[in-house]
Amino acid sequence: MIKEEKHIEKEPKAKDKKAIIEIKDLHKTFGKNNKVLQGVNLTVNKGEDLVILGRSGSGKSVTIKCIVGLIEPDKGEIKVFDENVLHLKKSELNEIRVRIGFLFQSGALYDSMSVRENLAFTLRKHKRDLSAEEIESQVIEALDSVGLSEAIDKMPSELSGGMQKRIGLARTLILKPEIILYDEPTTGLDTITSREISELILDIKHKRKTTSIIITHDMACAKLTADRIMVLKDGVIHAEGTYEELEKSEDEWVRSFFQ
Ligand SMILES: Nc1ncnc2c1ncn2[C@@H]1O[C@H](COP(=O)(O)OP(=O)(O)OP(=O)(O)O)[C@@H](O)[C@H]1O
Ligand SMILES: [Mg+2]
Repeated sequence: MIKEEKHIEKEPKAKDKKAIIEIKDLHKTFGKNNKVLQGVNLTVNKGEDLVILGRSGSGKSVTIKCIVGLIEPDKGEIKVFDENVLHLKKSELNEIRVRIGFLFQSGALYDSMSVRENLAFTLRKHKRDLSAEEIESQVIEALDSVGLSEAIDKMPSELSGGMQKRIGLARTLILKPEIILYDEPTTGLDTITSREISELILDIKHKRKTTSIIITHDMACAKLTADRIMVLKDGVIHAEGTYEELEKSEDEWVRSFFQ
């Protein structure tokens, strides 16, 4: 009897904390001695937004590029949706990659294509059997979700930096990813536009129940979006906690991010 009760109590907790991304002992050295990652361990649970902080060059982008196979680590383990991504065949890895959206540090829209074509191109590349009508309606839906349906016929060069970020985000969202990796989503934008993007990230999390890693130097973005923060230093996770916890950290170096 007692045993059963315990079982009932435990189960919902375990479900709440399902790990979606698990990184263990990740190492990456570039060249002879640029030891960038020296044993990174991190877990992101379902529905969680994890913010990664760290000085420029500390390996934040390298870490998330390893998750999607853009960079091959020297050592370590990466599990996404319970699959060990470093040991998958190319076709198996592709199946997982479609479920992961990546918002690159540099927007990376195709300059010679309109907004519509940029989004449609991404969709056609990954979902080959869609009709023209389906593509058009999904392009409009994705643009709506970033509040930019009026930009559909514009060229990237006609858009402001903030609009380009939003279109980049729409292009990520159009594939309906379960995980979104944001690499500095607000860099180069003014305070108000940055806040709009941060609010959009929060909105996406709530509406689409996505799990995310957000790399940022923008502490307002971190404060708004982070369920948990990790700070990368000297190739390892140096500190971890909520915004409020780390803001009061005993470690002066960690605190300096929050000033
Ligand atoms: N493809 C690559 N080839 C060689 N070295 C690389 C490569 N990618 C990254 N590096 C090196 O790895 C280190 C970490 O780079 P990374 O881009 O992860 O930094 P970061 O923490 O994202 O910095 P920032 O905040 O400036 O974006 C740097 O020294 C960089 O030069
Ligand atoms: Mg970076």
